[in-house]
Amino acid sequence: MRGKSILLIVGGGIAAYKSLELVRRLAERGINSRAILTKAGAEFVTPLSLSALTGEKIYHDLFSLTDEAEMGHIQLSRSADLVVVAPATADLMAKMAGGLANDLASTALLATDKPVLMAPAMNVRMWQSPSVTRNRAILENDGVLFVGPNDGEMACGEFGPGRMAEPLEIVAAIERALAIEGPLAGVKALVTAGPTREPVDPVRFLANHSSGKQGYAIAEALARAGAQTTLISGPVSLAPPQGVKLQRVTTAREMLAACEAALPADVLVMAAAVADWRPDIAANSKIKKSTDRVVPLIKLVENPDILASLAQHAQRPRLVIGFAAETDDVVENAIAKRRRKGADWIIANDVSGDVMGGDKNRIHLISEAGSEDWPEMTKTDVGARLAARIAEKLKGAA
Ligand code: C5P
Repeated sequence: MRGKSILLIVGGGIAAYKSLELVRRLAERGINSRAILTKAGAEFVTPLSLSALTGEKIYHDLFSLTDEAEMGHIQLSRSADLVVVAPATADLMAKMAGGLANDLASTALLATDKPVLMAPAMNVRMWQSPSVTRNRAILENDGVLFVGPNDGEMACGEFGPGRMAEPLEIVAAIERALAIEGPLAGVKALVTAGPTREPVDPVRFLANHSSGKQGYAIAEALARAGAQTTLISGPVSLAPPQGVKLQRVTTAREMLAACEAALPADVLVMAAAVADWRPDIAANSKIKKSTDRVVPLIKLVENPDILASLAQHAQRPRLVIGFAAETDDVVENAIAKRRRKGADWIIANDVSGDVMGGDKNRIHLISEAGSEDWPEMTKTDVGARLAARIAEKLKGAA
């Protein structure tokens, strides 16, 4: 669960104090919270306590220009793996069931593309009223998850269902919701991305044009499909993907060590453009331009082949996927590469155009069954389609 995050919407009810405890329990498990506090919620807990516990600023005003400039309300609604409403009041349930969007909380609920979990808390008569019963049925039908409410004595003195579930019960529901999210739940994925940099001296290096975009998109898609995903990335200027454990490295040798340390894994996607060679010696100080115009010679030595060595590793992942960036005879070269490297699949792409650094990709998936040619699509779509193919393959093999 480490690295996952929730967007917590705190509604107005006496149970709101339990949401502070919930944030703490989640933090202990490495699950981050970002919170929206409704106007009514702010009558029960202060933005300061929530912000101190989440370590983030608290969002509460739909029309704050400063907030919109930092993170728009649509982006906020999608910034986490799960939206949790605790306490979920009758009002918030009614708004979501009816599709109302007149404050930040209801707008986020309408705009989100993530699963929603509600922990209702209200007076027993309210909970049992025909309208709340109706709204609950609508929400359940829309796929909203519920935890509680529990039976017990209420703050108002009445007895019956309506008490918000206890923080640890909500934590368990969150863990379930995060884990059952996709077809790759329970699968461990290891992805590499970006170039490697091989130092010549303290200020110079050899590298390539890899942007890391394809590998990052694959890591994010695998995580979204429920895989516990580690991304080992060379130097790139991309934001860390959602829900992924990111480890940054520089050289091929560091990447190999990081990959080995991340094993065991069920699937490896080696999307990094690893430098094939490195200068045999990286000078300790900057190599000076000589006065007699003698040009320094850089002798190159071969880098370890990470893909080939993980394909032969004692802890070899069940599915080993490599990339083949080619400028000619794309499919033929990739078929040979699959065999040479001991990979199960090779994703071949023609990089003679502007694929490197671009947002689109056209790939051929080379497997034991031959070559599957995919139409040109965005790198995000390649990630999603590949995650679906991986799920199919692992399920078939299970
Ligand atoms: O041999 P070539 O570099 O074309 O192979 C590409 C595939 O091998 C990619 O999946 C790349 O990540 C991987 N590779 C590697 N270690 C290297 C070179 C490439 O893992 N030293």
